[in-house]
Parts: sequence; structure tokens; C-alpha cells
Amino acid sequence: MRVLVTGGAGFIGSNFVHQTLATRPDAEVTVLDALTYAGSRSSLEGADVRFVEGLVQDGALVDRLVGESDVVVHFAAESHNDNSLASPGPFVQTNVVGTYELLEAVRRHDVRYHHISTDEVYGDLELDVPDRFTEATPYNPSSPYSSTKGASDLLVRAWVRSFGVRATISNCSNNYGPRQHVEKFIPRQVTNLIDGVRPRLYGDGLNVRDWIHVDDHNSAVWAIIDRGRMGETYLIGADGEVDNKTVVAEILTLMGREPGDFDHVTDRPGHDRRYAIDWTRLRDELGWQPQYRDFRSGLAATIDWYRANEDWWRPQKSATEARYATAEQVL
Ligand code: NAD
Ligand code: DAU
Repeated sequence: MRVLVTGGAGFIGSNFVHQTLATRPDAEVTVLDALTYAGSRSSLEGADVRFVEGLVQDGALVDRLVGESDVVVHFAAESHNDNSLASPGPFVQTNVVGTYELLEAVRRHDVRYHHISTDEVYGDLELDVPDRFTEATPYNPSSPYSSTKGASDLLVRAWVRSFGVRATISNCSNNYGPRQHVEKFIPRQVTNLIDGVRPRLYGDGLNVRDWIHVDDHNSAVWAIIDRGRMGETYLIGADGEVDNKTVVAEILTLMGREPGDFDHVTDRPGHDRRYAIDWTRLRDELGWQPQYRDFRSGLAATIDWYRANEDWWRPQKSATEARYATAEQVL
């Protein structure tokens, strides 16, 4: 099976490539990635893939690569909410125009397409209520990032209905694990602590995210590619709801510090309060189950990975913190 993975030098895409090569001996993997600030060639070290550096908005390149593939898995995106608030333009280009180019190519070549998306397209939920997002929840995105992801999902739905494109969509909750960029919440706090800097919580720190290990996300993606119904959306989650303050306290404790040893900083504008995923469809229709059920031990393994792989994250650290320094103040 010839698999085209866009964004395969990023966090989830690179873990997808490693998992695919380890579990699917029949897979021949091509990665298309622009190597933006978020992509790293070293994330694919040891992976036997064809690597093509380029943009998903490059229609001619995308057409050629899609024409040589049996399945396309589209991870490439501008993925960070804070960046989308500072500069939304690249989000429209990559997330919307890039998806359009891929859809036109899979339509021309009749290639199977899987679209990676986020639970953020559904907006947010209140704290302390039992509601969770389902496949029927209306779209209500809050940020430039989530609105461009929502737009890309809607393009996929329209290309399925109007042109019969063979596509599925998955909307997943917050991922954690190795090779996540240091701009994101967990790697930022872990690497700050390695540098002797106190963790930084936006606002009151009570916002809830529904954490899933990246390998569970990727095994669910394969379940959908293998057994998903064409045109359908599947929510991916693993019952991992935790508030940010608790996550930081766990990180501090695991790294030998006092659990209250953090600062509150300026809140993110439009900050979504809570995400929670109902993944019943994935379980009942496709028989998928997450393997990483213990967040604390997954977090401990992730901390160990950042301790052991400073060469991987160090080059990004100071530029990332410089970006944050302009936007946030300790409260
Ligand atoms: P990431 O930022 O770590 O990686 C994105 C990758 O895409 C990078 O390698 C980057 O170089 C590449 N890229 C960016 N713009 C490109 C372009 N125009 N052309 C080609 N390549 C380009 O992102 P991630 O966290 O791995 O997220 C991957 C996908 O999963 C995204 O679609 C994101 O919306 C989705 N998602 C992420 C999470 C999460 O918790 N991180 C959860 C649910 C869904
Ligand atoms: O829900 C899926 C989404 O999860 C993905 O679609 C996005 O690509 C991914 O980045 C992530 O979005 P979040 O905005 O939830 O992730 P982030 O890591 O930026 O922040 C997680 C929570 O932690 C959020 O409530 C903001 C908060 N936060 C973040 C940072 C960087 C802090 O309190 N302090 C911080 O320093």
C-alpha cells in the first residue's frame, strides 16, 4: 500500500509514520512536508520513507504525489491556537487552501483520503456538566485555527457529497507524547522546568482538555482507514479529561518539585473552557480501544523523552519563549 502522509515531519504525523512502518510491513510511505518551524527532519530519523519537501498548497506537486498513492492521510496544518491569534493568514493558506488542493487531486485520481481534524471545531463545553462532543454536535469554532480546521472539514464533506470522493474525517482531542513542539502546553512546561523556569498557566488554569496519547490517536486513524464507512466522521478520544492546573501539578510532582510551584499568566483571548469526546461510534462500529489508559504514566514517559532528547527540542526553545514573552504577563 502506497501511503502519502502530509505533515509527516510534525508531531502526530511523525509518530504516525513510525507506527505505520512498525506495524504495516506492506506500507510504502511518502512524506510531504514544508518543514515549517513546526516540522523537523530529525523526527523521521530511522524511518525508511521517501521525503518530499513542499507545500500542500502546491497543486502540481500534490497532484503528482497523490497520483502515485493508494491512500492519503492529511496531517499537515498550522496547528497552534496562539499563533493563529497573532497571525491568521498562514492558517487559511495551509489549512483551507492546502486541503482544497488535496481534495481536487484525490478527486482526479480517485484515491482514498483520510482527513485529520480536531475536536476544537465544535467550540467548547461548560465545566462540571456531563455533556461531551459527538459526531452530531454543531460546528462552533472559536479561534482562527479551529475555524480553518472546521472549514477544511466542510470542504471534505462537500467533496464527498458532490463528487463522490472516497474520504473519512476524524476529530481528535488533545494529544501528548514524544516529538511535540515546545510551544504546546505539556512540552513547554516540561522544558521550562528543565531550564529552571516556573510553569505558566493561562488565566485561572481551570480549563479542561481531554488528553489522548499520540499512539492511540494514530491507531484509531488506521482503524478508520481500514474499516471506516466512506463519508463518515469519527471522534477520537480516550476519556482523558483533566484541568490544566492538575496537569501542571502532576508534571511538577513527577519532576521533583512542589505541585503549587507555577505562575498564572495572561489568559488566551477566546480561550475554550472545556473539551470532552464521546468516542462511542469508534468503539461500537470499528472495535477500537485506546491502549494508554493511565495519563500519569504516559506523562512520566513523555517527561523522560524530553529529558533524553534535548538535542531535538533545544534549537526551538528560545525562539518559542521569545514569541510568548511579547504576549503574556505574570499575573
Ligand atoms: P504540528 O504543528 O506538530 O505539525 C504540522 C506539520 O505540518 C509540520 O511538520 C509542518 O512542517 C507541516 N506543515 C505546515 N504547513 C505546511 C504546508 N503548508 N505544507 C506542507 N506541510 C506543512 O501539528 P500536529 O500537532 O502534529 O497536528 C497534526 C494534525 O493533527 C493537524 O491537522 C492538527 O489540526 C491535528 N490535530 C492535532 C491535535 C493535537 O493535539 N496536536 C489534536 C487533534 C488534531
Ligand atoms: O483539542 C485538540 C487541539 O489541541 C488541537 O487541535 C491543536 O492543534 C492543539 O494545539 C491543541 O490545542 P490547545 O489550544 O488545547 O493546546 P495547547 O497545548 O496550546 O494548550 C492546552 C491548554 O493549556 C489550553 O487550555 C491552553 C493552556 N496553556 C497553554 C500553554 C502553551 C497554558 O495554560 N499555558 C501555556 O503555556
